[in-house]
Amino acid sequence: MPDYTLRIRRYNPHSGEAAHWDEHVVELPPRNSVLDAILMVKAERDGSIGIRCSCQQGICGSCGVRINGRPGLACNTHLEVAAGRRAGLGGSADVGETVIEVEPMGNMPVIRDLIVDMDAVHWKKIRRVTPWLMPKQPVPEREYIVPHDSMADVTQTMACIQCGACVSDCLSMEVDPGFIGPAALAKAYRFVGDPRDDQHAERLWDLSRDPQGMYDCTHCFNCVQACPKGVAPMDQIMRLRRIAGSDFELRDPNNGYRHEHAFVDNIKRNGLLHEADLLPDSYGGKFHPRAVPELISSLPTIITALARRKVTPRKALLHPHKASKEVKRIFDKVDGRKQRFELNLYISGYDEAEEQMDMAHIPHPDPSIPAHEPHDDPEPKGAGGESERRR
Ligand code: SF4
Ligand code: SF4
Ligand code: FES
Repeated sequence: MPDYTLRIRRYNPHSGEAAHWDEHVVELPPRNSVLDAILMVKAERDGSIGIRCSCQQGICGSCGVRINGRPGLACNTHLEVAAGRRAGLGGSADVGETVIEVEPMGNMPVIRDLIVDMDAVHWKKIRRVTPWLMPKQPVPEREYIVPHDSMADVTQTMACIQCGACVSDCLSMEVDPGFIGPAALAKAYRFVGDPRDDQHAERLWDLSRDPQGMYDCTHCFNCVQACPKGVAPMDQIMRLRRIAGSDFELRDPNNGYRHEHAFVDNIKRNGLLHEADLLPDSYGGKFHPRAVPELISSLPTIITALARRKVTPRKALLHPHKASKEVKRIFDKVDGRKQRFELNLYISGYDEAEEQMDMAHIPHPDPSIPAHEPHDDPEPKGAGGESERRR
């Protein structure tokens, strides 16, 4: 049986002492979990170690910690995999590395040692998104019948065990602690994707107009990598945005809607993203009154980019705006679809043929319209939207 060096970060904010690392050598089989090692040390050597756990089966979500720099569940991380992470081999086992550093999750205050205050951050944000069904009326006498596709679609977000691993490593939350965050936004999608809920437009409008809402995510993918249950919170955030922008046409005051459309139009025109146009286009064009203050406030960034030759004046001002035929073909194909499909990788995998069959389709905002029927209604159904071509 190999020896593992377990380094546990110890900190008690009430003690007045600085945080420090405690080191214990444990002899355990490589397929035992990191939680097994912590509990063994706690039982046999130091009962004062603070760790939260319950099921020890990867179900309750209470043992979230950072293990060798990555968030996850201590109870479903094997010792050999944890040690492999330290070797920089992405969790490969059996690399001869034996040091395992365990520390509390990030973006949440530490209560003691490995225990963080989930109430202060995680649960507060979950409450922010009204995490319960607000049913359509009248409530049926027996039960709502939900289409299979819709149920399969929300299953991914229902798999969340509220462990907080995604919150721990969210880069946007690190910069802006007020950001609603990946777990809560995934929870919001759970109801926006549920045809029984009556408040889709209201939920989306609320999340899109909040400056720390769904447009505050920077697509860093950390939450996708962190989640032990495959919830892929970032994907759910993108879906919230697509539904808000394309189905409800919600023009949010954060400019999220315009920015996303400017992005798509930019690629359509240029083939590759032409950064110099993106910002002004997001605000209605170079000479739009909304764009001028934004351009002025971005001057330091623009000057840095020019100084580092990331962009040249020639490239910025004399761009040919010529997308290749191949790019145009892709856009024609996507634009030519009568109805947008949502690919839920959790359900349907990567196979394109299967994709056509299994794609979990976003239920249409109008419940009278079946999920797989093309729909040509030009009027937005959401709050405050303007009519525009569906994408
Ligand atoms: S993808 Fe968005 S929500 Fe997820 S961790 Fe990054 S910034 Fe946070
Ligand atoms: S989305 Fe995943 S990582 Fe985030 S709280 Fe839920 S289960 Fe944990
Ligand atoms: S103890 Fe329940 S998920 Fe780890």
